[in-house]
Amino acid sequence: MEKKFSRTLITTALPYANGPVHIGHLAGVYVPADIYARYKRLRGEDVLLIGGSDEHGVPITLRARKEGITPQQVVDRYHNIIKDSMEELGITFDVYSRTTSELHHKTASEFFRRLYDNGKFIEKTSLQPYDEQAGEFLADRYVVGTCPHCGSDRAYGDQCEACGTSLNATDLINPRSALTDAPVSMRETSHWFLPLDQYEDALRSWILDGHKEWKTNVYGQCKSWLDLGLQPRAVSRDLKWGVPVPVDGADGKVLYVWFDAPIGYISNTKEIRPDTWEKYWKDSQTRIINFIGKDNIVFHCIVFPAMLMAYGDNFQLPDNVPANEFLNLEGDKISTSRNWAVWLHEYLRDFPGKQDVLRYVLTANAPETRDNDFTWAEFQARNNNELVAILGNFVNRAVVLTHKYFNGTLPAAGTLAEVDSSLCEAVKTVKATLTENLENFHFREAVKDAMELARLGNKYLQETEPWKLAKTDMERVATILNIAINLSANIAIAMEPFLPFMSKRLADMLSLANLTWDSLGNMELLPAGTTINQPVLLFEKIEDEAIKAQLDRLAKIKEENKAASFKPAPIQEDVDFDTFMKADLRVGTVLECSRVPKADKLLRFLIDDGLNKRTIVSGIAKHYNPDELVGKQVVFIANLPPRRLKGILSEGMILSAENADGSLVVISPSATATPGAQVK
Ligand code: 2FM
Ligand code: ZN
Repeated sequence: MEKKFSRTLITTALPYANGPVHIGHLAGVYVPADIYARYKRLRGEDVLLIGGSDEHGVPITLRARKEGITPQQVVDRYHNIIKDSMEELGITFDVYSRTTSELHHKTASEFFRRLYDNGKFIEKTSLQPYDEQAGEFLADRYVVGTCPHCGSDRAYGDQCEACGTSLNATDLINPRSALTDAPVSMRETSHWFLPLDQYEDALRSWILDGHKEWKTNVYGQCKSWLDLGLQPRAVSRDLKWGVPVPVDGADGKVLYVWFDAPIGYISNTKEIRPDTWEKYWKDSQTRIINFIGKDNIVFHCIVFPAMLMAYGDNFQLPDNVPANEFLNLEGDKISTSRNWAVWLHEYLRDFPGKQDVLRYVLTANAPETRDNDFTWAEFQARNNNELVAILGNFVNRAVVLTHKYFNGTLPAAGTLAEVDSSLCEAVKTVKATLTENLENFHFREAVKDAMELARLGNKYLQETEPWKLAKTDMERVATILNIAINLSANIAIAMEPFLPFMSKRLADMLSLANLTWDSLGNMELLPAGTTINQPVLLFEKIEDEAIKAQLDRLAKIKEENKAASFKPAPIQEDVDFDTFMKADLRVGTVLECSRVPKADKLLRFLIDDGLNKRTIVSGIAKHYNPDELVGKQVVFIANLPPRRLKGILSEGMILSAENADGSLVVISPSATATPGAQVK
């Protein structure tokens, strides 16, 4: 039997405040959560959309150290950027708070203390990496060394980013501290563990028996964790940054970030509803939905529920955890550290007023069932071919024609013809599928349904051609435009969760107040006589230049990343001095330079070597236009035996250096040298 709920508590993964948010966060978590919250509000439900920054954890302390500032300064900076940019995108958080708040520290601390007092933890001593020089225990992430699998010498103690293998700090060869570069030793330390194994049966029946309707990726991940068998998990760390462990003698220990962060959902609910927060968490009539990315599944479906079970006091478990897969960018994994991302605050700067376009593209292409790719070409195409050509075009035609024939006053509809009735029926059918898709978190399909209304509208105008009837049958024109305008009003409602800025402009244009989901499907929503305001542009074409600028930016970042990860080749075996001196290196001036026919890599040079003119063939055609080298000076080896290349006798070799990205640059003297001068 379907469960009845009185209210909905929607949580969104708290992003780490160690960087701004990017399109991957948005597509995975914040846009779908906002769509769902807006939809539920239109249904008149009691909804809370909870957000906030996750301000603890090792990456934040590492960033602070790197920049020579405090962790608090790091989180202050990013918390504000994240909060402001999400607000500008129209994410309607009821609260966007932070885990460094006093209220959160108190809530998390009390949560831990209750479990501690009720004997829910086990205390265990283990050996952990320790930096003698810094006098600190090191989180796995702070230990760097050589990966035992691929040999990369930049592997972290928790993962090798070169080959993707999960590691323990003890697996690394030559482990060193990321803080001081000193070798790492192992020291004993004690921590509190939550014995997840004790909750395994309860979790198993809650998820595997009780929530077969969950997304297959979520259900499957939970099942494989549970089938492997759960182990006790440490909930404290030796760190200075975080919520201090509220136990005597636990100095220098803080709650593990994944223990305190999900409690942030509770703290933030308390912050916005200090008197009634408990009904959102402890009443079985509350539907709790956690929006997260796939890397957070275990924490939301296993660890946090086990914490809530251990706490007791009727805390409710989520009703659904519609985790998304990942979004890639132009074929590559999004990465904060490599700056491979479209950052929300930069998007808002580069595309002012185009919040809905991003929301639309991220929803239409959401990584709901598999990883997906964001490309700027698709962004442009979806804007120009769908938002402008389908949605904007239909609404604009309906409004312009109403002004042209009825001075902007909605005419009354007469008797409906078949084409009118079948359109009205189709709108009802769309509402049914749209609602079902929204209820089931199928937002990609849902936005397609909403768009279908505009497609139907265009088809309707195409079929009825009111502009032709205007000469002969104004009564018929009145009916058609009444229907077209009422369809536009339905679009304003159906699109509100997805494109709230457009929806507002459209509703204003149509003098439509109080949008409700109930009125969706009603094709007599706007009565005859309603004032239809002058048309305003809902979407505008995005030109190639704007897209090119974004692609150029990404190309530049790719180059920078290549250069940053460039590892010069190892130094070759020694060569004795006399042998080296046998190479006769000289400066020459390029007199002529041309491409070698049928050889796309080769350039043919005529060089003034001070004594003569000589021909040299060099494999740098991909890196230079012949013209740019004429008149330049180059360094060449003058005493190599001549060699025939593509039928041309090459008398020497021009020296070039190979860059990180494989490009070649010719070596030239830093000031003009006499042609034939020897290089010593
Ligand atoms: O993966 C992350 O970005 C985490 N900061 C998410 C935390 S979700 C919740 F538990 F707060
Ligand atoms: Zn590796």
